[in-house]
Amino acid sequence: MRNAIAAVGGPPIFERPLQIVRPVFPDANKFLAPFQAALASGQVTNGGYWVLEFERQLSEYLGVPTLVFCNGQMALMTMLRAAGIERGEVIVPSFTFAATPHAVRWCGAEPVFADVAADGSWCLDPDDVERKITPKTVAILGVDAYGIACDYTRLTEIGRRNGLRVIFDSAPSFGTRVGGRLVGGFGDAQMFSFHATKAFTTMEGGCLCTHDPELFARAKAIRNFGQLADGDCDEAGINAKLTEVCALIGIEQLKSFEQAALTRRRAVARMREGLSKLPGLTLASAPPDQDPIWLYLPVFVDEREFGLDRDDVAAALARENLYVRKYYSPPCHHMRAYAASHEISLPRSEASAFSVLALPVYNDMTEDECDGIVQAFLEVHHAAPRVKRAFG
Ligand SMILES: Cc1ncc(COP(=O)(O)O)c(C=O)c1O
Repeated sequence: MRNAIAAVGGPPIFERPLQIVRPVFPDANKFLAPFQAALASGQVTNGGYWVLEFERQLSEYLGVPTLVFCNGQMALMTMLRAAGIERGEVIVPSFTFAATPHAVRWCGAEPVFADVAADGSWCLDPDDVERKITPKTVAILGVDAYGIACDYTRLTEIGRRNGLRVIFDSAPSFGTRVGGRLVGGFGDAQMFSFHATKAFTTMEGGCLCTHDPELFARAKAIRNFGQLADGDCDEAGINAKLTEVCALIGIEQLKSFEQAALTRRRAVARMREGLSKLPGLTLASAPPDQDPIWLYLPVFVDEREFGLDRDDVAAALARENLYVRKYYSPPCHHMRAYAASHEISLPRSEASAFSVLALPVYNDMTEDECDGIVQAFLEVHHAAPRVKRAFG
């Protein structure tokens, strides 16, 4: 990393590109022997030994019965189905990854978009959820944006009071703690993604957690084509099973995950300290009782104060070899798939989606990398008038 002042125009701050994700996988030698044994036995999927062991370890770690899936989206769709959601309206945030409303649509229901809260968490606003409830509403689907837990308590209370299912798309938040407790057992059910972009990854994968035995049993059947123990099917299920090799990777990941979580939190604290000194940048913050896993560190750019708009900042950072992303942009209610929602007004979601930059946070992030990111923003800010001319 270069330790310089006039970076914009000079050599980049980072010698090698800093990409938005840098997954850390265990050394293959650590699970090669059991994997070879699984291959030799022919039992490589369909609830093999390591899948069951991974589920046992996850259930113990999270403190809630857990089923693993081949990816997060299958866990999400199965969770909706197993909660009985097949028609009607489901209230979701618009400021999320498109996977959230898509899953609702695939289950036969329609997403109704609500705004995000003004508390700095960038998660679903319970007050707006309450305003969006109609006789057609069947569920509230909160999302843990960037790994920050949405307001489980208020959303659950609103749901219970209105006779609605309350479920959480916690795809990014495996490892987040609320009141000291790992998330996973809140609401009627929660799911996580173990995609390679996530802090806890099995390459592709995911899981569903619930304390509801009926929802659990139904989800388990749906995951395997809807088949029950006697071979009969109560409903049309799907194939959403995880393989043995992914389970073995997950078991290895779990051993070092607390250390990874600590590294991520320290990295965010360090970047936050440096970036908060710059004008025109707002950083997401979690409610005081939370310790998010921080999938990314979202930063919202105010063009007037910072000197450049979000898109120019991203382009200028790329010249420094720092590759940030515009997550989550555009807001889902502006997507062509949701044309019927284009006219609704969600001011905070819209403002956020068009000013946000997601910064990388890694399981093995170094202090130098954190300082380099702060320095890159500092120099882009100082060079803003020049950068504006160059891009203009
Ligand atoms: C909010 C959200 N929901 C669902 C998913 C789907 O998870 P997966 O990619 O594991 O299918 C993602 C993926 O990143 C996500 O961000």
